[in-house]
Amino acid sequence: MDSLLIEQLKALTEGIPHPVANLANASALLYEHMDRLNWAGFYFLKGNRLVLGPFQGRTACIEIPLGRGVCGTAAKEDRTLVVPDVHCFRGHIACDSASRSEIVVPLHAHGEVIGVLDIDSPYPDRFSEDDRVLLEAFAAVLEQTAIEY
Ligand code: SME
Repeated sequence: MDSLLIEQLKALTEGIPHPVANLANASALLYEHMDRLNWAGFYFLKGNRLVLGPFQGRTACIEIPLGRGVCGTAAKEDRTLVVPDVHCFRGHIACDSASRSEIVVPLHAHGEVIGVLDIDSPYPDRFSEDDRVLLEAFAAVLEQTAIEY
């Protein structure tokens, strides 16, 4: 695992009591650190919808119903989804038609899903098993240090 990214995230967010600032920095860190991306950011649950949070990349869909698209499915099923080819994912929501592959990691507070980390690439099959492990560790740091106060 790329522990440098995790260490940088901890250094940026630990002890900072501003969730929006932490999430904005976290998305910038991911976008700069990982190659071949066109979007990296967050959606948070409000009722039965995911609402756009801090991100890097092109403007994106503001609301996603729980259970819809890759983000809504990952949130509803509470599991990481790695989609090698978004054209083959039934119900995929194309915020940017350039996106070809995607990974979505659920975020939790008090044992409940509160949102997702969503990362898109214009390249098919961009996200490996190592990336999944890294991004789940990244999400775990955010859950512990950066989201809740
Ligand atoms: N493709 C996502 C929507 C979010 S954007 O890609 C930023 C989905 O299907 O959930």
